[in-house]
Amino acid sequence: MTDGANQNSRAVRDQVLSFMKDHARPAGGKRAARPAVAPQVNLAPAFTDLPEHKQIVAQAAAGDQLGIDNPFFRSHAGAAGATTVVDGRTLINFASYDYLGMNRHAEVLSAAKNAVDRYGISASASRLVAGERPIHGELESKIAGFYGVESAIVFVSGYLTNVATIGTLLGPEDLVIHDEFIHNSALIGAKLSGSHRRLFRHNDMDDLERVLRSVTGRHRRVLVVVEGVYSMDGDVADLPRLIELRSQYGFWLMVDDAHALGVIGDTGRGTAEYHGCNPRDVDIWMGTLSKTTASCGGYVAGSEALVTLLKGSAGGFIYSVGLAPALAAAAWTSLDLIDREPERVARMRRNGHLFYELARKRGLDTGVSVGCSVIPVIIGDSLRAAQLSNDLMATGINVMPIIHPAVPEGLARLRFFITSEHTPEQIDYAVTQTAEKLEALVERNFGIGSVDIEAVLRRMAAEA
Ligand SMILES: Cc1ncc(COP(=O)(O)O)c(C=O)c1O
Repeated sequence: MTDGANQNSRAVRDQVLSFMKDHARPAGGKRAARPAVAPQVNLAPAFTDLPEHKQIVAQAAAGDQLGIDNPFFRSHAGAAGATTVVDGRTLINFASYDYLGMNRHAEVLSAAKNAVDRYGISASASRLVAGERPIHGELESKIAGFYGVESAIVFVSGYLTNVATIGTLLGPEDLVIHDEFIHNSALIGAKLSGSHRRLFRHNDMDDLERVLRSVTGRHRRVLVVVEGVYSMDGDVADLPRLIELRSQYGFWLMVDDAHALGVIGDTGRGTAEYHGCNPRDVDIWMGTLSKTTASCGGYVAGSEALVTLLKGSAGGFIYSVGLAPALAAAAWTSLDLIDREPERVARMRRNGHLFYELARKRGLDTGVSVGCSVIPVIIGDSLRAAQLSNDLMATGINVMPIIHPAVPEGLARLRFFITSEHTPEQIDYAVTQTAEKLEALVERNFGIGSVDIEAVLRRMAAEA
């Protein structure tokens, strides 16, 4: 029996003993007073007994049994950029989203250091009370100006930005319609808001229209959420069509530009610039400070009224500490540099294009990616993807496998983040190695289909 099962049975036994004690007849024969609360089934099982816990442990154990090193949670020794150091080895790095190389940019570093000297590490309070610093307002003005909209608000995390924004604007009488591959933060935001939820097929505007036709008039408010550049697939939202549908059906349009800011559009202004659309035709621009701007946090940009509303009532803003001043300063400086060093955006785009072209020439499946910041190489089989990632690491390349549930079953992939700092030689080497190592795995028929899962489970059970 496992430790968890032991603990669980001990807990049940303790409950039974306590019940018997409470109900025991005293020597005089009179029944003891009934306890105020009747004992019940174990409402606080050991965490190790939860099926969710067991599944995680089983997945890790299966990897061990199959001899696949766990590619996750590897520790990196320094600042990640086009290269990174893991276990003392310098690797070409395609796993960090420092798209424009701001994470090691001297000006960004010195802006953050100056902010630390001036403001200390923490804002030390919610901005509403004592946490406001000048750099917060300056960053928000910068973001609003960058998007060409009235105003902006920053939160301490990108994930929180989606959860707090959707949760503030929508409730049980409302509807969130989202792309089937929308980021988990928007999905959880929609779930926690208690609103109704519908999804449409990935980037399929006809399917979105079908959903819109079926729901019109039945809800108090309707929000449609998409990503500018999709984080797992690297394709771009069809913004012109979304704006058209918005004016036809009347809904709030929210675009998560996390992987588009600084990446697409001639001057890196993201999805609106890429399509030549008016940014004011989008109600809610959302993005993160953790990608192109090499910081941490998230933002919403839009109308003055939207920002007033969020600053006045979003729990994730009001009841959370203000963004650390050094992070705000780093993000401000990165945004400034996008305009002052436009060649970074151009280089990033050239690199994305180069990777994409070389990969396709080698017959790699890049899915629907347009070849910019995010380029997946679709493998299909999760085990094969994990092993390919390890094989590439052995040749000096760091790239992460993305497996279910982050992507649908059968669509496991390696996800390459391309930056302005990669050299053409690094890109060429990575594509060549990926194609060769993948071919070798295919030849060996390595993958879940070639594994005797029953035997692995039996081995695991025997060792438990
Ligand atoms: C599309 C998208 N939205 C939101 C987030 C959350 O942002 P953060 O990691 O900065 O909290 C991510 C993170 O990867 C993302 O890819």
